[in-house]
Amino acid sequence: MNQGVLLCKLDDLPDNSSRGFLPDAQGQDTVFIVRRGSKLYGYSDVCPHYGDTALPWKKDVYLDAGGDYIVCAAHGALFTPDTGECVKGPCRGDFLTPLKITVTAEQDVVLLCESRGKEQ
Ligand code: FES
Repeated sequence: MNQGVLLCKLDDLPDNSSRGFLPDAQGQDTVFIVRRGSKLYGYSDVCPHYGDTALPWKKDVYLDAGGDYIVCAAHGALFTPDTGECVKGPCRGDFLTPLKITVTAEQDVVLLCESRGKEQ
């Protein structure tokens, strides 16, 4: 079995929600997940514009007001939840760093450690 970090239960992620996690216990959330129906999209919580800036202005608020895009609070960049591509803002065309997420038979949402920082 892949080694991973348990993040939460699937029921803790309502449809069309986002949530941050700190699997490395670094003091602030370093990864986040957006749920779209049965699909989960995980990314590092780092905006590609400056490369060291977390996205949300408030805990777990990674989506814009309409819930359509991931938004960076610093300069308003918008990213598509399914690909992580910036489609509006100063880093247009850049991508969030995707993370591999899996859901176990027990409905545990697990971050697969060996895939962190790599394409899904
Ligand atoms: S740091 Fe995210 S848009 Fe500038």
